Amino acid sequence: MKHANKPMDIAEAIRVLASLDYRSSELSEYLARIASAVSRLLETDWSVVTLSETPGYDRILASSKDIGDAMNATYSLHGTVTERVIDSGRPLCVGDTTSTSESGTLPEGYLAYVGLPLTTSEGKTIGTICSFDTQPRRFDDETIQVASLFSERAATAIELFSSFRRLESFNARLEQEVRERTEELRRTHEQLVHKERLAAIGEFASMIVHEVRTPLSTMQMALEFFEKNDLDERASKRRSLALRESRRLAGLLKEILLYANPGNGHLECVNLRALVEEILATLRASSDGTFGNIRVSLAEAQLQVRANADKLRQVIINLLSNACEASPAREPVHLAIGPVDDSESVRLCVRNVTTGDPPDTERILEPFYTTKSSGTGLGLPIVKRIVDALKGEFSIQQDENGEVRAEVTLPCLAL
Ligand SMILES: Nc1ncnc2c1ncn2[C@@H]1O[C@H](COP(=O)(O)OP(=O)(O)O)[C@@H](O)[C@H]1O
Ligand SMILES: [Mg+2]
Repeated sequence: MKHANKPMDIAEAIRVLASLDYRSSELSEYLARIASAVSRLLETDWSVVTLSETPGYDRILASSKDIGDAMNATYSLHGTVTERVIDSGRPLCVGDTTSTSESGTLPEGYLAYVGLPLTTSEGKTIGTICSFDTQPRRFDDETIQVASLFSERAATAIELFSSFRRLESFNARLEQEVRERTEELRRTHEQLVHKERLAAIGEFASMIVHEVRTPLSTMQMALEFFEKNDLDERASKRRSLALRESRRLAGLLKEILLYANPGNGHLECVNLRALVEEILATLRASSDGTFGNIRVSLAEAQLQVRANADKLRQVIINLLSNACEASPAREPVHLAIGPVDDSESVRLCVRNVTTGDPPDTERILEPFYTTKSSGTGLGLPIVKRIVDALKGEFSIQQDENGEVRAEVTLPCLAL
């Protein structure tokens, strides 16, 4: 027998047509069945279903025989019989290419050809079913008509498939959009809840702090008054302890208030160079040596920001305190201030090495998170809130060499 596939008569072709049931995910298999049915019906050696997505080119979507890599490769249509079918949108039958000059080129070794257009519901020709035979042939009209029914089915399936694909990608985009919006909503909601919580904590904390501050300062004044009195060693020790604790408590209350009501304060033009010099002079004079090893590097440029000097002082002191407390003795702490590349902002960077555990960057900005026995855990949250209020940015992280970098970026003051 000439054909690998058994020939099929028209009655069988109609039965096959009736049994063709297209499912959107099985396009290649469906088109392969159509290609072999057409080959059997026309009794040709080889049939293919082609799709022309780019004008002048096509690719093979299905074949009645195994063609390996040729499947899905893109071919130029120039001068081929397929091009003529696509251009005319009508079936084309060539019984013997050697006896006509109008047929266009055929794959090598083939002499007879039937080309059926794949026409969409809008009348556009998107591809072909092409059938080739190595022998000269005659094709009768009735068979061609039935074969055209197969090409209609193939065109419908391809159209459905591409609509399905478009729908799928539209759905994927929609899902992505919904995911992004949901995430955005969740974040906004979280921020709102956080803000509300902070406001509530702020109100509550201010109330308590105000209640406690007055009696505390009375006690402090009394203790300071008794400092003038001569006491025996034991009593004097207890008095110093009480004074130290009450000062610590006063410090904590001050920090809670600062955290609860950071505000912007009165905004003024602050010269960072002058502010840093003043802070360093105070720190170095007052402390027990903790702040003795700060190395400062200030850029030549004018370093002015619009802020409240007291709040900014607090930011710098909090960062320097943390760095000095964490760094081992004799290791320097670096403070650098300079313009950021675009000169529209100023960056203040405090660096230190630390022998302790790496800072827990997840929790470090949570109020009251501290790893120190006498820490308040409010230093960095205060920094963050002050910097946020100034529309600046704050970050703190440890690099691979173990150095901790705290960075504050503030919008520069236009001069
Ligand atoms: N420069 C730093 N180097 C190492 N650890 C740091 C540094 N700054 C902050 N930390 C860690 O973050 C914690 C929180 O800091 P902070 O909010 O200032 O509170 P506190 O200093 O009262 O503990 C500290 O207890 C410490 O563990
Ligand atoms: Mg601190």
